[in-house]
Amino acid sequence: MREWPTTVEVAPSILSADFGRMREQVTDVLDAGARVVHIDVMDGHFVPVITFGPKMVAAVASVIHVRGGFADVHLMIEQPERHIDQFAAAGADSITVHVETCPHLHYTLQQINDLGCRAGVTLNPATPVDAISEAAQYADVLLCMSVNPGWGGQSFIPATLERLPRIRELAGPGVAVEVDGGVAPATAAGVYRAGANILVAGSAVFGAPSPAAAYAELVEVVAAAGAVAWR
Ligand code: DX5
Ligand code: ZN
Repeated sequence: MREWPTTVEVAPSILSADFGRMREQVTDVLDAGARVVHIDVMDGHFVPVITFGPKMVAAVASVIHVRGGFADVHLMIEQPERHIDQFAAAGADSITVHVETCPHLHYTLQQINDLGCRAGVTLNPATPVDAISEAAQYADVLLCMSVNPGWGGQSFIPATLERLPRIRELAGPGVAVEVDGGVAPATAAGVYRAGANILVAGSAVFGAPSPAAAYAELVEVVAAAGAVAWR
């Protein structure tokens, strides 16, 4: 089982990539230094959009693994427990589920670990942080949504900066804290200071003329943020 990085990482989200050139686009950001690639699965039910299923995850994961990267699968789907075995078989290193979709969250996180993957839990912007306070001890990553799930290119919700320190407190040693949505050069340093070490960036990377250069710029912004209290 691959470990979540405890380092600070910008994780390009393929949601904003050109789906017709997926292999090339993922290779570009890996060659630029990305260690984590974020993969958004949407079902048209939990969120209105449909993206793709395990076959796309398998194709992308094979590119990621050849270069030593980590395939971070974010499931925005109803009843994720019915599908996680397929995403594990497709090569997911980590599978993150929404607390809003999981009445048996402890069981689902255990199921993910039993399938050989790191387990993540995430919550929507209006879901109280307390909703994951018990589950946090069973998770390998706590993902804080900083936009409403479903679309790339939305504006960062500022209240995330008050939620992240509380989520970082819930994270045990070695547990990653990830933020997803609206991460761009203007917001990246703030989310890092507030407690996130995995910064998902979709449109800021793949919406740029050069995804590799945009990735590198975000890495620089975070490096320039200096020391942070939570580390
Ligand atoms: C949103 C997805 C995000 C998305 C972020 O539902 O979970 O991962 O790709 O996109 P940006 O970085 O453009 O806000
Ligand atoms: Zn996501």
